[in-house]
Amino acid sequence: MKRINSLLLLTALLTGGSAIGQQKAAVSKDPKMDAFVNELMSRMTIEEKIGQLNLPAVGFDVTGPILSEGVDEKIDQGLVGGVFNTFTPQAVRKLQQRAVTNSRLKIPLLFGYDVVHGHKTIFPIPLALSTSWDMDLIEKSARIAAREASADGLNWTFSPMVDISRDPRWGRMSEGSGEDPYLGGLIGAAMVKGYQTNSLANRDAILACVKHFALYGAAEAGRDYNTTDMSPIRMYNEYLPPYKAAIDAGAETVMVSFNDINGVPATANHWLLTDLLRNQWGFKGFVVSDYTGVSELVAHGLGDLQTVSARSVSAGTDMDMVSEGFLKTLKKSLDEKKIGIDVIDLACRRILEMKYRMGLFADPFKYVDEKRAETEILSAANRNDARKIAAASMVLLKNENQLLPLRKNAKIALIGPLADNQRDMIGNWSAAGDWKKAVSVMTGLKNMAPDLKIVYAKGANLVDDPHILKQINANGAEIHADSKSPDELILDAVKAAKEAEIAVVVLGESAIMGGEATSRTNLDLLPNQQKLLKALKETGKPIVLVLMNSRPLTLTWEDENIPAILETWFAGTEAGNAIADVLMGNYNPAGKLTATFPRNMGQIPLYYNHKSTGRPYNGVSNEKFVSRYIDSSNDPLYPFGYGLSYTTFSISPVKLNRTDLQKGRNLEAAVEVKNTGKYDGHEVVQLYIQDIYGSVTRPVKELKGFQKIFLKKGESKKVIFKIDEEMLRFYNSELKHVAEPGDFNVFIGSNSRDVSQATFKLSN
Ligand code: BGC
Repeated sequence: MKRINSLLLLTALLTGGSAIGQQKAAVSKDPKMDAFVNELMSRMTIEEKIGQLNLPAVGFDVTGPILSEGVDEKIDQGLVGGVFNTFTPQAVRKLQQRAVTNSRLKIPLLFGYDVVHGHKTIFPIPLALSTSWDMDLIEKSARIAAREASADGLNWTFSPMVDISRDPRWGRMSEGSGEDPYLGGLIGAAMVKGYQTNSLANRDAILACVKHFALYGAAEAGRDYNTTDMSPIRMYNEYLPPYKAAIDAGAETVMVSFNDINGVPATANHWLLTDLLRNQWGFKGFVVSDYTGVSELVAHGLGDLQTVSARSVSAGTDMDMVSEGFLKTLKKSLDEKKIGIDVIDLACRRILEMKYRMGLFADPFKYVDEKRAETEILSAANRNDARKIAAASMVLLKNENQLLPLRKNAKIALIGPLADNQRDMIGNWSAAGDWKKAVSVMTGLKNMAPDLKIVYAKGANLVDDPHILKQINANGAEIHADSKSPDELILDAVKAAKEAEIAVVVLGESAIMGGEATSRTNLDLLPNQQKLLKALKETGKPIVLVLMNSRPLTLTWEDENIPAILETWFAGTEAGNAIADVLMGNYNPAGKLTATFPRNMGQIPLYYNHKSTGRPYNGVSNEKFVSRYIDSSNDPLYPFGYGLSYTTFSISPVKLNRTDLQKGRNLEAAVEVKNTGKYDGHEVVQLYIQDIYGSVTRPVKELKGFQKIFLKKGESKKVIFKIDEEMLRFYNSELKHVAEPGDFNVFIGSNSRDVSQATFKLSN
């Protein structure tokens, strides 16, 4: 019997589930809402119902909203459920007014936008936020983002992005929380709470949208939009948990991913959107496609626009972003009996219910408040929080001879194309952010330490590579070659370094080299920047390398040759101030990597929670027939969880209070952490567990807990983790969530590599 079930399940997975239909109706617990929506729907024409499923983009520029073709008229005709890319109270009021005045049934619109890491006050890119390992700060960033967005007329953000990625070739790694499903789930949940608060009735709450459902980060070869083909057991254990955690935290909407999943693209995948999301996970909100996700199914090869539209809505995609496939073809499919009215009714009901629950029918202008926009957006308080959050996201990768922090009156050479740069500070997907409001490193240092003597040299163009330049300039990077030649730029920089005690060199990617459609096959520093760094090394001056980038880079040469390296990602509006805080020791860095830094491209995908293989390599021998490379170490350059501090910490060997665990009880794993250095600081103490023998192979270790603690210099603290049977559960070959009796290793340490170990047994 079990075997048959799992076979059925597997078949469903492989085929994308049962055919069109079979969606369960949402079970509402609000009779008043039911009565309202029933009455409204009884008056709606088919066209108006389909209209609610339509989400066009209405562009915005500095002079006001530019309506994409025919949207005004469609709003008047009741053929639009919501729009995105329109904000400011003035612009939103104009469209909402149309909807509630001109349209027959006066149904208000939703206003969505990519408020991904802040609205106008931009926080660090999401990957950077995750390296803070600080759920309170992350929630706060989402809260501030929601306050600003709702003050600017918006009521729906396309965030959090919780796609697990183990492949830094994929530029969208910058938009998520890295490679770990447990940490990714906690972060997704924290962001949902920050956006939605505890009630949609609140004026400063906005709808969260968990994206991109699902497995988008596992695109083959790290190439954006590419196919995903994945075993169910890997999906359930390694990739699905963050989506589920964000949905369990109450996320009201879900965005479907672009990719093919085991032969059926997500947008038309009934198994994914109905069997799993709604029937297994109990999701009650609505599902939106990604940008033209519906019409792209034609290019995927699923059929013409009519076929793919019918298939998408039947699979469980309720709202069609931009394609207008629903608008143009669903009525025809209905007339031809290719879909039933129940499918359209269900999707329409889900959207109307959301509008009702948000209070939009009671007050369509709930989020339109010019006064709020004036006082709540980009306030000094928000910027101050952004600065703190940015500092907390920075990761100190190397600090030989305690080169950092800098002395307050040092003479420094500040070098690099990102050193006096505002444009790139806010990173990618900072949609409403204004880079002109961002603080450069130069300004940050001057603000913080007026006595610092700074000699500046640009040293290199941000990008010289003609191929990359062409791509990114076509998408708005506006990078122009300096009037000086690359050699002249380097000569200037060398001269500046020679005049100074220390060189602070700010290098990395352009912001636009990260985010959507920015896959890369080489993650070294760009050749012109490397050339600069090598010339500076020749001067013999100590170098601090300050990095800005959207994903892990391959930094093997830099690690071998540069004494201090600070990873600052793209830190947002307050980047320069926060970087100055860290460089000058005003803030002691405590960030820890959430994505492994490989030594070279050939190691990718490289992640800490991998399986063992039958021939594991011990890292030292020259044995041939083991799982290793002959031209590279297996080990990463910087492992998951890694990051230094200006102080040092000792962590005692892990001690268990018992070595036998039973269901319903717990055991304690404890370490003593001591600040043994010269600065007060934070340490993220990390708990990993390995299920040594299982009915299926299990990872060599998995993050199961962490505590970020603050210790004054000389101070110690006992850190205790409680371990129970629930933490040991995983999805087995029948996709049952079980813990199997047997032996487990517990590891505690300051990163996934540097840990001590103990063993316990889970008994029946
Ligand atoms: C992206 C989404 C985004 C949407 C709307 C798409 O291209 O994949 O992440 O939310 O556009 O801007």
